[in-house]
Parts: sequence; structure tokens; C-alpha cells
Amino acid sequence: MAKGKVDALLGIVFGDEGKGKVVDVFTPKYDIVARFAGGPNAGHTIIFDGKKFVLRSIPSGIFSEDKINIIGNGCVIAPDLFMAEAKELEAAGYELRNRLHISKRAHLILPTHRVLDRAYEAAKGKNKVGTTGKGIGPTYSEKAARTGLRVGDILENFEEKYLALKARHEETLRQLHYTDYDISEEERLWLQGIEYMRTFPLTDTEVEINRALQEGKSVLAEGAQGTMLDIDHGTYPYVSSSNTTCGGVCTGLGVAPGRIGEVFGIFKAYSTRVGSGPFPVELFDETGDRIREIGHEYGAVTGRNRRCGWVDLVALRYAIMVNGVTQLVMMKSDVLDTFPTIKVCVAYEKDGVRTTDMPFDTEGWKAVYEEVPGWQTDLTTLTSESQFPKAFKDYVAYLEHQLQTPITILSVGPDRAQTIIR
Ligand code: GDP
Ligand code: IMO
Ligand code: MG
Repeated sequence: MAKGKVDALLGIVFGDEGKGKVVDVFTPKYDIVARFAGGPNAGHTIIFDGKKFVLRSIPSGIFSEDKINIIGNGCVIAPDLFMAEAKELEAAGYELRNRLHISKRAHLILPTHRVLDRAYEAAKGKNKVGTTGKGIGPTYSEKAARTGLRVGDILENFEEKYLALKARHEETLRQLHYTDYDISEEERLWLQGIEYMRTFPLTDTEVEINRALQEGKSVLAEGAQGTMLDIDHGTYPYVSSSNTTCGGVCTGLGVAPGRIGEVFGIFKAYSTRVGSGPFPVELFDETGDRIREIGHEYGAVTGRNRRCGWVDLVALRYAIMVNGVTQLVMMKSDVLDTFPTIKVCVAYEKDGVRTTDMPFDTEGWKAVYEEVPGWQTDLTTLTSESQFPKAFKDYVAYLEHQLQTPITILSVGPDRAQTIIR
């Protein structure tokens, strides 16, 4: 953490790396925590004092009571889901009004965007992206088409603008012959959510953040999704619709590249993916099932089974490169506690061709593995590096060597307290 800088904490694989947990742990060191991309497709889990919260749109810095949390211009927000999430936090005793600021430039997810999400998925048949169904793709498409509604729009003549956009969506849905839907209850809550959002500070968050930086304050940018789901750098078209990578911090918060400080790249000691798309390290055997079971790898948003596999150095190297990762954070090491050996994907192979660079099209590539000994020790109660079993120390050193980047934080359990900073 440096004064006047924005540090980024970015998922560098397929999401669900444990960003929520680490942002919560890091927050006491920062003045502001800001989300810069994505929306309620994210599900960030935070566990402490026997309590568990899953945040979707609200930054994971919200549990440190004196910190400002910002939903930046690069985000998309669904007023009904935002209201439900915020009310849950309020019911748990967290005061939000003075600490949670929403960018006027963030885009609104309409109920009909969610219907469009379903309609486009249905039209794709076998080639479904496997989206979270939260209207993310249609809302970002609308933003790019320059026809979207932004949070600031709710401050003036909103109903007129809303009805006009909804009518256009309904027309598109008719053209797609997707007419069997009923949004009346959803719309009622959504409009309530709009009223509720009006009670929050809707601000020019880019100005606020830059002023704070000029005053020497520090900002933590909380990533959503992961590099392999980035619209430019992920496994397109099986990706989300925003820039989840480091460049997204600049555009999604309105900060200059020179303001970026540390870039924390977060990954698990193994890999997961939820939704469709290529995943060369995927395990279809009982080892995959075992990782899923021990790691509780079921989606925080949709409850879907997460696909599981070994750690993928091709993807990690690529992510370190495009994000400029300066430090790595390795999560869920404890999930591998009982495995006698652990595999690591060091390259991809297809038709006799081997590559260590991320290919344009990851479809059809097979993982090439190296095998290392497991530690077969319970890591969950460890509190310092000096207690690490040798085989675990070796695994960490091996990954650091392969990735040429230090692993400075290790997580050995879901609780806030189960975090080791080296
Ligand atoms: P995010 O989307 O990146 O914030 O991650 P998710 O919350 O979707 O998924 C991470 C899951 O792993 C959550 O259920 C966390 O409670 C859990 N978790 C985080 N760190 C650890 C860890 O070190 N060990 C174990 N066993 N679970 C962890
Ligand atoms: P967090 O922030 C894991 C995946 C979906 C789908 C693809 C596109 O919790 O890590 P979308 O609804 O965004 O259009 O879906 O991206 N996806 C995620 N997978 N973690 C996430 O967020 C995700 N957000 C989207 O499963 O494959
Ligand atoms: Mg998640």
C-alpha cells in the first residue's frame, strides 16, 4: 500500500479465486475500496466471527466501518438486487449510507436486460456461454451501443427514459420470438430499488477518487471475475462482457495508469471454472470430484457445480503478463491437504504442437503436467510460514520459480483469520 496509489486485487483465472476474502483482509490498510467492473454476476464471500456474507455489487471493504466503498463507473448495477444486498447488510447492523458511494456513470441493468440475457443464451443452443443470467452482456452491449441508462439518469425524468428503453427491449424480444416471460413482480422491486438507490450518494466517483489520491490517500481496486473471463483477454466468446484486467481499473474508476501501485494477482492452488468454454486442465475423474467436494466448489451466485482441475501455469503466466502482476496471492491451499501428489499444468499440447503461451483459441488443447509431492498435512491451523511442511514450502517455491513472481499471501481456510502474510 502506498499513499496516492491505487492497488489492484485481480482474479487472474476464471473468477471465484477468493477476492472477497482478501479484499476484506486488506481493507484496514486502505482509505477507499472500489469495484471497477462487473455487477451482480460476481459473488464474493467473506467469513469472519462465524458469519458469512456473499456480496455481489457492494465492495468487500464494507465490513471495515470507517472506510469508503465505491461502485465505480465501469460497473453495472441492478437496483433490485442492490437493494436486497444492502438491506441484508443493514439488517446485520452495518451502516451504509455515508460509506457507500455509487458512480453516476455506472450503467443500470433493467429487468428486460435479464430477459434478453436468457433469450440470447437460448438462441445460442449448444454454444451457450453459461452466463449468470444477471443481464450483464446485454447491459454492457447497450453501453457500447450508446443507448444505455446510467445511475445519474435516475435523478431526472427517469420514468420516461426507462419506459422508452423497456419498449425497445420488448420489441427486440418479439423479434427473437422470446415472449413467454413476465417481469411484473421483478419490475415492481426494481422500481423500488431505484427509489432506494436515490437515498445513497450518487456521485462523480472518478473526481472523488482522484481528489483522495491527490490528498495522499490510498485506494484498493477490487476485481470481479478473472483474467480468463476478460472480454479482450479471456477465452472469447466464453467470457464476461467487461475488462476484468488491470486496464479495467483505469477505465472503470477514471484513474491514470501512473496511479496504479501494486497489482495483486489472486489464484487458487488448483483451478475452477463455472459456465461453458475451454478449460484444458479440467478433470473429469474422481480427483476433480474430490477437489469440488473438499473445496465446496459450487457457484456463489447460481449454485452451479464449478468445473475443477489442477493449477494452470500457461493461464497464470499470461495473466501475470497482461495485468503486470507484482505479487501473487494463493488461496485454498488447504483443499489439497490430503492429496499424495499434485499436478501442475506447464504447457498445452495439440496435434503434436506444444506451447507455453496462451493460444488464440484454447479449444482442443490438452494440458501437459509435471507432478510434485503433496504435503499431506492439515494447513488450516497454521499461522505462520515457519510452520509450513516442507512439501508445501517446495510447492510454493516451485510456483514462484515457474511464474517468476513472489507469492506473498497464502490462504489456508475461508475465515478472515486463516491468512498468512509472508
Ligand atoms: P471470489 O468471487 O473471488 O470472491 O470468490 P468466491 O467467494 O466466489 O469463492 C471463494 C470460496 O472459497 C468462498 O466460498 C470462500 O469462503 C472460500 N475460501 C476462500 N479462501 C479459502 C481458503 O483459503 N480455503 C478454503 N477452504 N476456502 C476458502
Ligand atoms: P466472481 O467475481 C466465476 C462467468 C459465467 C459465465 C461467463 C459470463 O465471483 O469471481 P456473465 O453473467 O458475466 O455474462 O457470464 O462468466 N462468470 C463468473 N465465473 N466468477 C464470477 O465472478 C463470474 N462472473 C461471471 O459463469 O461463464
Ligand atoms: Mg465468486
